[in-house]
Amino acid sequence: MCGIFGYIGTKDSLQVCLNGLQLLEYRGYDSTGIAGVENGQIAYCKEAGKLHVLQQKLPFQKLDVAIGHTRWATHGKVSSNNAHPHLDEKCDIALVHNGIIENYDVLRSDLQMHGVRFVSETDSEVIVQLIAHHYKGELVEAVQKVLPLLKGHFAIAVIHKDFPDRIVAAARECPLAIGYDDAGTEAVISSDPNAFLSSTPNVLFLRKDEVALIQKGKISLFNSQNLPLCKQPERLEGHHTPPSKGGFAHYMLKEIFEQSATVQKAIFGRMDEKEVLFEALPETFRNAKRVWFIGCGTSAHAGMIGSLFLEDIAQIPSHTEIASEARFRIVPEETLVIAISQSGETADTIAAVREFKSRGLKVLGICNVKNSTLTRETDGCIFLKAGPEMSVCSTKAFTSQIAVLYLLAKFFARQSAEEIKTIPAQIQEVLKLAPLIQQIAKKYSHFRNFFFMGRHYMYPTCLEAALKLKEISYVNANGYPAGELKHGPIALIDTHFPVVAFCANKQTEEKILSNLQEVKARGAPIIALAPKELSAVSAVADDVIWLPSTSDKLAPFTSTVAGQLLAYYIALSLGCDIDQPRNLAKSVTVE
Ligand code: M6R
Repeated sequence: MCGIFGYIGTKDSLQVCLNGLQLLEYRGYDSTGIAGVENGQIAYCKEAGKLHVLQQKLPFQKLDVAIGHTRWATHGKVSSNNAHPHLDEKCDIALVHNGIIENYDVLRSDLQMHGVRFVSETDSEVIVQLIAHHYKGELVEAVQKVLPLLKGHFAIAVIHKDFPDRIVAAARECPLAIGYDDAGTEAVISSDPNAFLSSTPNVLFLRKDEVALIQKGKISLFNSQNLPLCKQPERLEGHHTPPSKGGFAHYMLKEIFEQSATVQKAIFGRMDEKEVLFEALPETFRNAKRVWFIGCGTSAHAGMIGSLFLEDIAQIPSHTEIASEARFRIVPEETLVIAISQSGETADTIAAVREFKSRGLKVLGICNVKNSTLTRETDGCIFLKAGPEMSVCSTKAFTSQIAVLYLLAKFFARQSAEEIKTIPAQIQEVLKLAPLIQQIAKKYSHFRNFFFMGRHYMYPTCLEAALKLKEISYVNANGYPAGELKHGPIALIDTHFPVVAFCANKQTEEKILSNLQEVKARGAPIIALAPKELSAVSAVADDVIWLPSTSDKLAPFTSTVAGQLLAYYIALSLGCDIDQPRNLAKSVTVE
């Protein structure tokens, strides 16, 4: 799982490639590397760590053609040896790879029997060694011979020392976009077209074993039978504004504080006083007999809340499935599948979309990133309009997702959604609690284990809050339906095991108060997130974050923002790398 980028053209190839890698760091930041041709030789540099580490070590200032890579480790530890680009034994060919080669072990043993020596632990190195093995003076031909030998999925970019004027690229299931300008002076390849759109708006996407020979001003394409292919480029709009923390210490904090505005953007122009109106949503979707949400991580939690909205508001039976598990399930006909993904690039979600489409189901996407894979592969897409989310830890995308899902349920029910307009102001009120939440966070930051619990709407809300905490602070935080603790997990409770209780679901108020008594009786320190009117909670909780009063359906917004702040300030007290936590990537592009 990784980002790949390449450039050939009249600009400084090295610099363009480094800029591209910066924009692809969301796909992984375990290591980075770059290769090009310099004086008829392959020149390369690769380092464990983020891009700035590579930039400090670069031994060259100019390359004729450049390919680059930013890695999230799958096969082989994080090290400069396992970083891309990988080279063949003679150092004639360099390759960058995104994806996984499932049969790399067998291929590697075969090559070793032919005397090839491997220097990394990766699956990727086998591709470049195979290309070298089949190379007879034509790089495209060698790549074409290798693709049928590979099992798995990939996007690759390859250069050869004898051809400083070309990059060969190929893809199977992993995204790979080729961009070129109108004047034909430059061409770019990237895992994500958003990394190059402003200067090269003509875009071709490689699919199913297609191979491209990329030269300045000329792109030649071949299909999986190695026949020349003619494809019309898509004209994509977009430009990149350099990310900024806007005076905040971290992107995460900035994005938490943006939520009043981003929820406003998610709902703006999508309703009048009578009903909800979605742009580009086929009317036939309203005939769905049931809805299945799929997504991963935070997006799956949004789906769980969406399921409750659909059942409570529109009486449409609904289910949420973690995307990587969805393929094992029977989904009845006339089900509308809704795939939720901030990035639109999550491999598990994309794989599930492809699976359900192949079964003849209609799929709607809910996505934040324009031009992403999800937006191209679904039958319709609703955008979050939240703006770029830079922190790996998803915050503003989640509240925009549930805002859109609330509207969607109202759309199905043909009802107005006026009440959601109160949410931006309520989020502002919660944001004012940041100093208090920071104090509470400091008090609890030495604990290594937490239970998060909630009922009904507060159950997925507490799962999301627990995910925030574990992801950025490396503290063990487990979310549970509050009624479930007594069925086993409560055995873990003692004075060293705090409970964070999400109490903002009026329908289940009495029950959660009883559950709080149960954990209190066993010595658990308790932090409660409760609406102002639930005064009874102060008798049992050690600390209370008082939230604005709202309906059960809208309570996930305010409780989520408080949970995000709690996680943020605990991670801050612990001195963690909040925006780029260890072992993670913003967009998880392998299954
Ligand atoms: O881009 P996506 O919404 O598809 O990403 C799904 C998850 O990888 C993502 O939400 C992840 O769980 C976040 N890092 C959580 O903060």
